[in-house]
Amino acid sequence: MFLRPCQLLVISCLHVAVYGAVLRNFQVTQPVVVPDDAKQCTIKVLQPPTDCGPLGSWAAITLNLTVTSNGTQYDRLAHFTFQNVEIWRTSTPEPTIGDGIIWTYIKDVSRYTPLFANPGTFILQLDNIVEPGLDGIYSSKMLNVTLPRNTVKVFAELLASGNAEEEFWYFNAANEYLSTLPQDTTYGQGPFRELRLLIDGKIAGAALPYPVIFTGGLNPSLWRPITAYGALDLPTYFLDVTPFVPLLTDGNPHQFTIDVVSAEDDHTILQNWYVSGLLQVITDPSLKPTTGHMTVYDAPLFSQTSTTAVVQPDNVNITVKATRKLHIEANILSGSGEATYVVWKQDLSYSNEQSYIQDAQYQIVTQRASGSNIATHNGVPSVVEIFSYPLYIDLAFSADQTSFTTVVDHSYDRDLLPDPLVVRSKIEMSQITNGFFQVETDGNFANGTSNNTFAYEDLAGNTYTREVDAALNNITFDREGGTLAHTGTTTEGFQSISQVIKYVLGRLPGGNK
Ligand SMILES: *[C@@H]1O[C@H](CO)[C@@H](O)[C@H](O)[C@H]1NC(C)=O
Ligand SMILES: *[C@@H]1O[C@H](CO)[C@@H](O)[C@H](O)[C@H]1NC(C)=O
Ligand SMILES: *[C@@H]1O[C@H](CO)[C@@H](O)[C@H](O)[C@H]1NC(C)=O
Ligand SMILES: *[C@@H]1O[C@H](CO)[C@@H](O)[C@H](O)[C@H]1NC(C)=O
Ligand SMILES: *[C@@H]1O[C@H](CO)[C@@H](O)[C@H](O)[C@H]1NC(C)=O
Ligand SMILES: *[C@@H]1O[C@H](CO)[C@@H](O)[C@H](O)[C@H]1NC(C)=O
Ligand SMILES: *[C@@H]1O[C@H](CO)[C@@H](O)[C@H](O)[C@H]1NC(C)=O
Repeated sequence: MFLRPCQLLVISCLHVAVYGAVLRNFQVTQPVVVPDDAKQCTIKVLQPPTDCGPLGSWAAITLNLTVTSNGTQYDRLAHFTFQNVEIWRTSTPEPTIGDGIIWTYIKDVSRYTPLFANPGTFILQLDNIVEPGLDGIYSSKMLNVTLPRNTVKVFAELLASGNAEEEFWYFNAANEYLSTLPQDTTYGQGPFRELRLLIDGKIAGAALPYPVIFTGGLNPSLWRPITAYGALDLPTYFLDVTPFVPLLTDGNPHQFTIDVVSAEDDHTILQNWYVSGLLQVITDPSLKPTTGHMTVYDAPLFSQTSTTAVVQPDNVNITVKATRKLHIEANILSGSGEATYVVWKQDLSYSNEQSYIQDAQYQIVTQRASGSNIATHNGVPSVVEIFSYPLYIDLAFSADQTSFTTVVDHSYDRDLLPDPLVVRSKIEMSQITNGFFQVETDGNFANGTSNNTFAYEDLAGNTYTREVDAALNNITFDREGGTLAHTGTTTEGFQSISQVIKYVLGRLPGGNK
């Protein structure tokens, strides 16, 4: 990468003027880190930048997606692609009738600078696929890729999200015990999902997906105005594929497969997961082919899993556990004579306990997914990921099923170096939400509270903290700290929306009740 730190490219996406007391929805996140001394150029999507230096020479690139919406509608998934590469997956908050909503999310896409070195087309594809009942099967993607023969490093980034029958995948019950639950309580295929990358049929790496809850999930009032973490910027997963370089530099096409598998005997899942991915390929200045050998390959096709249950007449508890260890090493010799010893190790662990109490009137899921992924090149870390994604959801339905309470307590703790071109950073995000939903014939009633604690730090010395609470659509507490605070880009300020909101029914495990 040959970045000249000169100018900052801001790409301003959709925006529409709005009036009135619109509700500002947002996901709690750190402000983007851009050099202070850079000249800022703003372009509208589809207009190539002029007066911003040569293509691809920018110090940082950010995307500003500002969207307004008005009217009762479900949330939707959106894919942002440039040059046909998906660089941002987001979803839309649920709008309301009346004053409507607006949201802005600033996404740092500087790591894709090489992609921006050539003119291309941005596409924002809005799908209707968060809703149940729509099927587009896309849960496994296969592609033949031919890499340059002088490739010396390859990093993969994977995107994946569960929708429809897979939206609440962590609430899907193991097939063996599905029949012990009242009919239509939830879907099958169990709660374990593993995202895998295979090269010519061999595992190159795997990820335990972070459970993103969309704004129409469970009880929409929980996510208004503060979305669940990841709803506006779905987390992606990083693997060091460099140990495969000796196999990939033969000048022939190789098959890359991205898929999602379960812990059931046949490893299949329901419909559907949307997966995609991209490769960052680094070549040697010499045009000579890279050579080398994979010296260690210990990577089972599937995780080790177990499913157990305690089944009583009215109460069923089902526990699914999984672990995966992966260890790959390779010697790489570049055309210009540089030798690199690459070590890529993953150690992942997962557990999920579902409790269905009093004939599933009370439904509780406690999931833990954590692990560490570490790749080194001659001992120097190239990809590091140490993560923990605890999730607790408690749904309690009234006896007549017309109302329910919801508690969601979840965290996103991730220490991440996605590749050696990006600074290592750490995020600790916790969100606790409580809510009530009542189905009514003339428009549903719902309320919710949301408490959020967020901390970001990176190895460049940037820090950011935010504590923000909401109750009944109002921001009741908001405090920022750290070196990135008060940039004016993320503080929504106190809001007080007094309109009465009629909610559309939230989506629930097993489809709407
Ligand atoms: C939203 O739509 C409603 C009904 O179509 C309209 O009365 C209202 O003025 C709109 N609000 C905004 C902010 O455009
Ligand atoms: C990729 O190549 C393999 C042989 O290497 C071939 O069997 C397969 O059909 C190809 N797949 C695609 C999607 O082109
Ligand atoms: C089932 O799960 C519930 C809630 O987590 C717990 O209180 C109960 O003790 C569990 N029952 C058994 C038999 O494990
Ligand atoms: C939400 O509404 C329910 C039912 O009216 C009520 O019991 C609960 O206290 C309300 N929650 C909040 C946070 O106001
Ligand atoms: C959320 O924060 C408020 C203060 O803003 C506090 O009163 C309340 O107890 C907190 N709720 C939870 C569940 O932590
Ligand atoms: C993003 O775009 C919106 C709409 O044009 C604008 O109001 C906002 O200031 C922009 N935010 C940043 C940080 O540039
Ligand atoms: C927001 O808070 C204000 C008081 O600060 C209150 O009057 C209003 O009813 C609240 N909004 C909602 C939707 O409850």
